Amino acid sequence: MQEKLDNLRERIIAAIAAAASVADLDAVETEQLGRKGELAVLLKSLGGLDPEVRKEMGMRANAVKGEITLALAARRRELQADAFAGLAKAERIDVTLPGQRPPEGHLHLTSQAIRDITEIFARLGFYRVRHPEVEWDWYAFEALNMPGDHPARDEWETFFMDAPSHGEKGRMVLTPHTSSGQVREMERREPPIRMVNISKCYRRQMDVSHTPVFHQFEGLLIDRDVNVTHLRGVLDFFARSYFGPERKTRLRPYHFRFTEPSFEVDISCGLCGGTGRLGDGGKCRLCKEGWLELGGAGMVHPNVLRFGGLDPEEWGGFAFGWGVERTMMMRSGIMLGDIRELYRNDLRFLRQF
Ligand code: PHE
Repeated sequence: MQEKLDNLRERIIAAIAAAASVADLDAVETEQLGRKGELAVLLKSLGGLDPEVRKEMGMRANAVKGEITLALAARRRELQADAFAGLAKAERIDVTLPGQRPPEGHLHLTSQAIRDITEIFARLGFYRVRHPEVEWDWYAFEALNMPGDHPARDEWETFFMDAPSHGEKGRMVLTPHTSSGQVREMERREPPIRMVNISKCYRRQMDVSHTPVFHQFEGLLIDRDVNVTHLRGVLDFFARSYFGPERKTRLRPYHFRFTEPSFEVDISCGLCGGTGRLGDGGKCRLCKEGWLELGGAGMVHPNVLRFGGLDPEEWGGFAFGWGVERTMMMRSGIMLGDIRELYRNDLRFLRQF
């Protein structure tokens, strides 16, 4: 009996020491100290012994039970401490590690340019407007002094809508330029006017330097006693603000039906500094003789003022209209072999800007 008890004690103590987790230990406890455990069975069997021996063995068995209970408690403390130590390691958070940035997009190049342009003109009191892109022939041509059969219209390579025409306003077109907003603005509000109309324009054109949908920004100022020096002042302000303080503009005589006089606006080339020559003496590869062409401008034609309900004896003004994409590319120095790249939605291209 004594031997049996020693044996059992040894096995249980070993099982306790071998338990690798609190759960293991719980299992050992129920198995060994439970009502069906070997120790319980052994204690029960004492009933058949001599009272003297029974008393002696009973004491010993209880001592073993006490010893096992202590061993269990000790091992449980050990295992719990280990588990906590492990937790601190496994779930430790290094608050100094850099966080994970969520993916962040940015505005398309053209949208960035539209913002910049709007902001620069706002400083001179020009408010941003958007006039319709689906437009009547009247605002796109007729009211701009280009009657129905005028050959000047050919330059605008217009898309006509397959829609019923309006009695006075003629057919519907996709506006080929933002100048269609000029007379609309005159109808909409009393002068003085200082608008910058930025919107999409449409022309039947598609090659490396043209897309059928593109953007223009159109400045229109109507007031009393306006002359060409005001136009120059505004253009120079824009050129310096947008392209840099050293850039200059020049006006070249040109012809538009809706302005008189009319000009093409050039800006001094940023690459050769307006000289047309590079440091090595070679010809500048970006410009023609020091100047880059930006777009059209001029003093609003009296007929256009009349179409807008204004008396040309009292009111005068200037207007200019340039392509957003073209202007933006000139500033950034991005020389796209194919301007259509801008609208192909290839993220590898767009992410660079
Ligand atoms: N609308 C003209 C174009 O698309 C540009 C322009 C605007 C010219 C305003 C003069 C005045 O080419």
